[in-house]
Amino acid sequence: MFNSTFHGTMTGHGQSSNRLNSLFYLENVTVDFGSVKALRNVQLTIDPGEIVFVTGASGAGKTTLLRVLSGDIEPTSGQVKLPQKNVFISRVFQDLRLIGRLSCEENLKLAFDPALYNSKGEFLQDMNELCRIMGIQNRLSLTVNEANGGLKQKVAIIRALLARPQVFVADEPTSSLDADNARKLYEVLNLYNVKKGLTVVWASHNRELVKKFTGRIIHLDSGKLVYSGHACFI
Ligand SMILES: Nc1ncnc2c1ncn2[C@@H]1O[C@H](COP(=O)(O)OP(=O)(O)O)[C@@H](O)[C@H]1O
Ligand SMILES: [Mg+2]
Repeated sequence: MFNSTFHGTMTGHGQSSNRLNSLFYLENVTVDFGSVKALRNVQLTIDPGEIVFVTGASGAGKTTLLRVLSGDIEPTSGQVKLPQKNVFISRVFQDLRLIGRLSCEENLKLAFDPALYNSKGEFLQDMNELCRIMGIQNRLSLTVNEANGGLKQKVAIIRALLARPQVFVADEPTSSLDADNARKLYEVLNLYNVKKGLTVVWASHNRELVKKFTGRIIHLDSGKLVYSGHACFI
């Protein structure tokens, strides 16, 4: 699924490379909201094919960092290099953007884009596989309005993956999920990471949870990036 831009640039987990090969590159990024410094001089490189967990307490700047990475806000100062326009970034933020009166299945089927799939059958195969791994195939006929928070979150995540992104950015995707379901989500993202080279950026205030997964952890404290490395060293 990657275009030629990505060939030869997959550096695997946790390997920081230079600005040229990176997917995201932030240099001295500061974001102010009035007198609040949400991010302070953040230096960050994310390579294609990495899984990165952004941790930190509430208010540490996780959402702001993800908004910068997804091109939603520009820094007050500093430099940002974002992926090229042909790299599709799927995002799941707190606002899940599902259609409440439609069933979960109908919401998922809205993700079908004939330009991305050889056939509707191929799309349905992906959809069914994702629903099976996430354990929601028996609840697809519920409307989103009837669904609980965990089901809604899973539908939003599956829909984002059905858009066949190269990058998946999720803000607290497990806030309504217990540890078992959080692991299922991790397994799905890991599968897409291994099979398709999906780059994952996942923000969570629950560091103990994401420490159990394989990937790089970056930790924010009052807007400062204070740690970047493998979970076992934190
Ligand atoms: N749009 C905004 N306007 C004003 N202040 C904001 C805005 N977004 C975030 N902040 C502030 O910036 C800081 C970091 O927030 P945020 O990035 O949401 O942290 P986190 O996601 O880690 O909880 C907090 O003090 C928050 O109140
Ligand atoms: Mg947040």
